[in-house]
Amino acid sequence: ASNELLKGKKVLVTAGPTREKLDPVRFFSNHSTGKMGYAIAEAARDFGADVTLVSGPTSLVRPQGIQTIQVESAQDMYEAVMKHFQHSDIVIKTAAVADYRPKYVADNKIKKQQGDYTIVLERTIDILQTLGKQKTHQFLVGFAAETNDVERYAKEKLARKNADMIVANNVVQEGAGFGTDTNIVTIFKRDGTAKQLPLLPKSEVAKQILREIHYEIEGRL
Ligand code: PMT
Repeated sequence: ASNELLKGKKVLVTAGPTREKLDPVRFFSNHSTGKMGYAIAEAARDFGADVTLVSGPTSLVRPQGIQTIQVESAQDMYEAVMKHFQHSDIVIKTAAVADYRPKYVADNKIKKQQGDYTIVLERTIDILQTLGKQKTHQFLVGFAAETNDVERYAKEKLARKNADMIVANNVVQEGAGFGTDTNIVTIFKRDGTAKQLPLLPKSEVAKQILREIHYEIEGRL
């Protein structure tokens, strides 16, 4: 009884956090659980799409009927995404990708020592921005996780990363962002309009986002 809104479309979704190694026992990461991204992948599958999910480390079960590729670091995620980008129709970047990683990764466990310890971080590659530069026919959707000035940063990301849509969430709002089963998002479009959604289960947020994408692609709801 599924609605075949995205039948025949190849959808690439990223989800979860990345892990950036410091030494064999430590890493930098963030609070993403993958729930939002997995919800989008599952909703796209239920809309009839052919879905590939590139997932950072999460405790979620591998979804049925979705090609899932497990990755660790921002670099791994970049490589997996680039492999699938060309033949994708829609790319949705829900993952919380590290912006920085330790510049030097120790081969052995770093030992405690007296006083402060300084870690040098270097920039990771910005996957969304790279896709924005390389896209041909793909409809490119980014997320924006903000704690303040959501609209300004979302619009700025839309332009700078050459995305077709930005889904913004204020991650300090109750019921929104990391870890919760619900989210509160605003969808920013290229034409300058925005659509604000109420607090909804992530499964519903996912469907709404996909309906908006479909509308933009097909020009109808
Ligand atoms: O996983 P959950 O627990 O369900 O939480 C959901 C969520 C809060 C992680 C999700 O709703 C969300 O907001 N995801 C984006 C998190 C993020 O990294 O936002 P950002 O504003 O830092 O990045 C903006 C965009 O650039 C994102 O689409 C991100 O995937 C992309 N990016 C960022 C850095 C980088 N090096 N490469 C990227 O592609």
